[in-house]
Amino acid sequence: MPTQTVVKASNASFSPSYVPVAVFVGGTSGVGQGMVEAFARYVQGRARIIIVGRNEHAAAEIIARLPKPSDAETDGWKHEFVPCDVSLMAHVRAACAEIRAKCERINFLVMTAGYSSMVNVAVTSEGLDLHLAMRYYHRFVWIQELLPLVQAAQARSEDAKIMSVLGAGRGNPKRPIDLENLGNTVKPREGRFTVALRSMIMSSGYTDAMLAHFAAQNPGIAFTHIHPGIVRTNGLPVDFDGLLTPLRWILNFILPFLAVSQDECAEHMLYALFTGKRGLFLRDRYGNVVSELAFEVPVELGESLETSVLNGISMTGYGASDLGVRRIVEHSEAVTCAS
Ligand SMILES: NC(=O)c1ccc[n+]([C@@H]2O[C@H](COP(=O)([O-])OP(=O)(O)OC[C@H]3O[C@@H](n4cnc5c(N)ncnc54)[C@H](OP(=O)(O)O)[C@@H]3O)[C@@H](O)[C@H]2O)c1
Repeated sequence: MPTQTVVKASNASFSPSYVPVAVFVGGTSGVGQGMVEAFARYVQGRARIIIVGRNEHAAAEIIARLPKPSDAETDGWKHEFVPCDVSLMAHVRAACAEIRAKCERINFLVMTAGYSSMVNVAVTSEGLDLHLAMRYYHRFVWIQELLPLVQAAQARSEDAKIMSVLGAGRGNPKRPIDLENLGNTVKPREGRFTVALRSMIMSSGYTDAMLAHFAAQNPGIAFTHIHPGIVRTNGLPVDFDGLLTPLRWILNFILPFLAVSQDECAEHMLYALFTGKRGLFLRDRYGNVVSELAFEVPVELGESLETSVLNGISMTGYGASDLGVRRIVEHSEAVTCAS
């Protein structure tokens, strides 16, 4: 396990010869905010940083506190906010169009905006399960829409990295993705807790699947799915109700003692972001690689239904199969474009 000292030393060695462009979806609070602040510190403000979220006031306060380059001549640096409610894919596509109009390349695309309510279970006005929209679909759309800009960074031999902070390493060969209930809107949606739990588990496997798809198609880019651990953020408290209310009291009393700060977590997330060169990475809360696979050339994944196996290679903690990747990507393209 790399300690804070080790990851901070590693992060401090990040010193790109170019002005990096970094987009943080969910950078207005929590792990994303911690990553924005640490990233800006390591480059002494010398970066184009785009924070995406809903809270403009929080973004303005964060941006005001970020270090600015001491050399007034530094070209291309800017710290800015792009508003977006990621629960609707139409909003995400509009925000992507805004970012494409501002930037010609993206070196780091980091997605932390999330959702974990066990009480508020809904289908969005676009017909998507809310949990999956907030935890998975929006990330699919960001990658799909902004990939050409990350490819542009790769073409310049610069860092080209995409990271989803969610729930990596949860895949198990005995728990295949349910391909009969894609989107969690096919089977009956009875019992809020059951539906929410199903979506939360699905979102991790779906994230593995989509990142495997993009990694197989883009061998020169690093795609990372990482688990942040338990972190003291607005997203930490659980909101069980009814019979589970006492469990909520207990968990919300205990969890803060087990949790780390968003700043501590952010150092490990950045360590993982900076050290992954290319391929698919599943990583734990410290940034340790749980499993990884680099592709030499673009690969079309096959029809295997073996869970935790990617293109014939066994991957610890990986929640999809090759056929699962194809089905989930087809499904995601269909439902996010239709909205
Ligand atoms: N914290 C933990 O212990 C923990 C544990 C396991 C996994 N995770 C996962 O790790 C990731 C990061 O965790 P976190 O605790 O930092 O996240 P979080 O508190 O759930 O999310 C905070 C960020 O998400 C943005 N956000 C929330 N709803 C949004 C919406 N509808 N549209 C746009 N942005 C929205 C917020 O921005 P605005 O308020 O500006 O909209 C804020 O920037 C999440 O995916 C979470 O599920 C966290």
